[in-house]
Parts: sequence; structure tokens; C-alpha cells
Amino acid sequence: MPKQTSRSESTRKKLLAAARAAMKNAHAPYSNFKVGAALLTTKGKIFAGCNVENASYGMTNCAERTAVFSAVASLGSKMEIEEIVVVNNHKVPCSPCGACRQVIYEFGPKAVVHFQAADGPTTLSITELLPEGFRLK
Ligand code: THU
Repeated sequence: MPKQTSRSESTRKKLLAAARAAMKNAHAPYSNFKVGAALLTTKGKIFAGCNVENASYGMTNCAERTAVFSAVASLGSKMEIEEIVVVNNHKVPCSPCGACRQVIYEFGPKAVVHFQAADGPTTLSITELLPEGFRLK
């Protein structure tokens, strides 16, 4: 009998595939560190992003923010992130940077984040990664 694949397992595979495909499009000539991210919205849509570096280094956009901004551009700001996956071309530990954590939190206060940590693949909530995230209320 074929192994039963749960809905979340197959969604995770799709997210991983989308993140890996986006990673290949990264513009990372300065760091040679290509990153891909893919997010799932609470309504089941997937959006991917890659890091886009610039000769003026500070202008660099991380993969996670590219994915979030792409989702907002397509769906508007009511879009909510359910989960987000991050991969890199060196297969080394890479969790979202502080700026990306704040951006993920803005559009997904309950988001779940999958990334490579020092001790392997890790899943944490955005509030574990960013306690006391800022909200303007
Ligand atoms: N980078 C990401 O895209 N996401 C992360 O989570 C960490 C870092 C990018 C930024 C830069 O282009 C390169 O990785 C090296 O820092």
C-alpha cells in the first residue's frame, strides 16, 4: 500500500520545491549565498522569493521579504502568512534575519517558520523567533 501522505506533508513539499526554485533565481554575486523562501497564506496560496543583492550592499533584499512583498503585491495587505520555508545553497544554518522576522510578524503574527538551524531542520513560531514584535496600534 502506498504510504499515506498528510495534507500538511504534501504542502510542505510544495513549499520546499517553490523555495528551492526561487533560490536558483537569487541575485547574490557579492556573497555567493543564495537563499530561497516560500510562504503559504492562510487561504492556501504559495508565494516564493529569493535574495536580491546590490552593488550598494545595504540595498539587499532577503529572500523572505521578497516572498512576503510578492504576496502583498498580488493579494493585498489582508493576506496572512500561515507558514514560511527558508533554504540556502550552502545547506548551512540560516534563520530569518531580524528585519525579516519583523516583516513576517506584520503579515503573520501566528506564522510558523521552517529553517535550517545549527542542529538541523527546525520549526519555530514567529513569536519564538521574535518575542515582543512591534505593532503600531
Ligand atoms: N539572506 C537572506 O536572503 N535570508 C536570510 O535569512 C539570511 C540572509 C541573504 C542576504 C544576503 O543576500 C545573503 O543572504 C548573505 O547575507
